[in-house]
Amino acid sequence: MSGQRVCVSDFEEEARRVLPKAVYDYYCSGADEQNTLADNVAAFKRWYLIPRVLRDVSTVDLSVSVLGQKLSMPICVAATAMQRMAHPEGETATARACKAVGTGMMLSSWATSTIEEVRSAMTTSGGGGGGGVLWMQLYIYRDRELTLSLVRRAEKMDYKAIFVTVDTPYLGKRLADVRNHFKMPQHLSLSNFSTASLAFSEENYGNDSGLAVYVAKAIDPAICWEDITWVKKHTRLPVIVKGVLNGEDAVQALNYGVDGILVSNHGARQLDGVPATLDVLEEVVEAVQGRCDVYLDGGVRRGTDVLKALALGAKAVFVGRPVLWGLACEGEKGVTELLELLKEELRLAMALSGCRSVSEVNRSLVRRVEFTSRM
Ligand SMILES: Cc1cc2nc3c(=O)[nH]c(=O)nc-3n(C[C@H](O)[C@H](O)[C@H](O)COP(=O)(O)O)c2cc1C
Repeated sequence: MSGQRVCVSDFEEEARRVLPKAVYDYYCSGADEQNTLADNVAAFKRWYLIPRVLRDVSTVDLSVSVLGQKLSMPICVAATAMQRMAHPEGETATARACKAVGTGMMLSSWATSTIEEVRSAMTTSGGGGGGGVLWMQLYIYRDRELTLSLVRRAEKMDYKAIFVTVDTPYLGKRLADVRNHFKMPQHLSLSNFSTASLAFSEENYGNDSGLAVYVAKAIDPAICWEDITWVKKHTRLPVIVKGVLNGEDAVQALNYGVDGILVSNHGARQLDGVPATLDVLEEVVEAVQGRCDVYLDGGVRRGTDVLKALALGAKAVFVGRPVLWGLACEGEKGVTELLELLKEELRLAMALSGCRSVSEVNRSLVRRVEFTSRM
């Protein structure tokens, strides 16, 4: 019997108890020494909130427009692979939860449900909330026709944008996955692919992380900025680059015509030692100068984290692991509860800061904590 879940860590604690060790390890790990993993979370504590008072916060409007779609809140679901390891309904449960809460879900290229199944789950679910939006996360495969087939299927199924992940020419070294010789449980596969080699369901990946072996074989390490042009040429959907961490790459992304930038270090799973995403957000926002929307993911665990990211210029944030913990705890119901929890935490944080709508959140709301030698 589970206890009451009142914050994201309660979900994680319960998920850790119910998931098989190798699955929990795969979900929670960062790369190498996991310095960046800890820093993604710690960075939010390096900023104070500076609230305003006496502003009539009897109603607070959390709604926001992301890539032309109205959402009930600026908190969206990041692409996380293989969700059926957390719950038998996997990505389809997440899609229904997003619909119930009225937010957007980015589907991983490495989902254990097909693009079509996830669309159908979102469309046919009662939901009752404000509706949901689907976006497609894209890895660029060595096989470009295969890559384009994912884009075409997403377009056909009314996904509203393509997030191209640009930080994974190879898989980061996640020590637990190497030790566990991580591979997928036998009854599952990467559902959007039809051959065993592409569906990550071969028998033997040796003593390494199976996923690292898969990526080395299937994903193109030679991708470069021209490939963004190539994706844009083949789709009418907005194209967002996922994985930018500095102003120079942000300007480069604009030069190549992107429609948005997601400041992300892949949940600290790729290059250990990079800064926390919150610490580079301002640099990217300043470089972009309003020419496209900037989003952030990494380490967002509470409503005040969301507020700080918005104050530093993010249009919306994405959450990865917390959604997996919600799924592991209680499937669709668990993800809905998790997203509602974050929404209510953000509502309270905004009210207590004197912000009645997302448009009232600005840079004056945060001040960096100055560390002194006494601290
Ligand atoms: C278990 C797991 C699987 C992930 N799979 C993908 C993926 O398939 N594609 C991708 O672009 N990012 C993937 N990510 C990165 C997330 O999209 C996101 O950047 C990250 O989880 C955000 O950090 P957070 O988990 O601290 O919220 C994954 C992250 C995790 C934790």
